[in-house]
Amino acid sequence: VAEIRSFREEDLEQVVALSLRAWEPVFDSTRMALGDEIFYRLYPRGVDEQGTAVANNIAQHARTTWVATGADGDQVIGFALVIIDGDSPVGAIDMIAVDPAHQQRGVGRALTDFATDRIRDAGKTVAMIGTGGDPGHGPARLTYASAGYTLMPMARFWKAL
Ligand SMILES: CC(C)(COP(=O)(O)OP(=O)(O)OC[C@H]1O[C@@H](n2cnc3c(N)ncnc32)[C@H](O)[C@@H]1OP(=O)(O)O)[C@@H](O)C(=O)NCCC(=O)NCCS
Repeated sequence: VAEIRSFREEDLEQVVALSLRAWEPVFDSTRMALGDEIFYRLYPRGVDEQGTAVANNIAQHARTTWVATGADGDQVIGFALVIIDGDSPVGAIDMIAVDPAHQQRGVGRALTDFATDRIRDAGKTVAMIGTGGDPGHGPARLTYASAGYTLMPMARFWKAL
């Protein structure tokens, strides 16, 4: 489907840009679910917070971040970030996104499978991905189910103080 290779420093700008595009509808859905009051306390700059979160997370986990590239090899069309620290049997896919212009063509599934293989290679015996139960995270849930992950429904309750 797409080439997947290790993240390089020079990919950062493209990864952040595609993340903002990919997460924009997801953040709209989160805002609908939480209401403006809670949403803007959590994300004062809306989806821009996700750009910062992606950059910070990659700074910490650059060696376990991979990118999917387009036909020309330079264009970054998606990424996955994995956390495999510690003694736990569990490795986590912490972030995954595909540029909307390249979605629904198997790139997200390929990144999920690739990241899962890296978690297995690291000696972990279980892989986990956390995501939302709201409509905006629907494509993510379909992708993980398609990759053979078992859903354990969870609930998180919020209150503005
Ligand atoms: C989740 C995401 C990475 C999926 O990427 P993608 O490249 O579109 O996914 P794929 O094309 O590989 O699709 C994987 C499966 O999910 C299904 N799917 C994905 N998006 C879908 C959609 N919008 N509608 C219907 N089905 C969808 C595909 O049909 C496919 O199913 P199949 O394997 O049974 O055929 C992408 O939607 C995204 O970047 N979302 C925004 C960021 C996000 O939510 N990240 C995860 C946060 S936890």
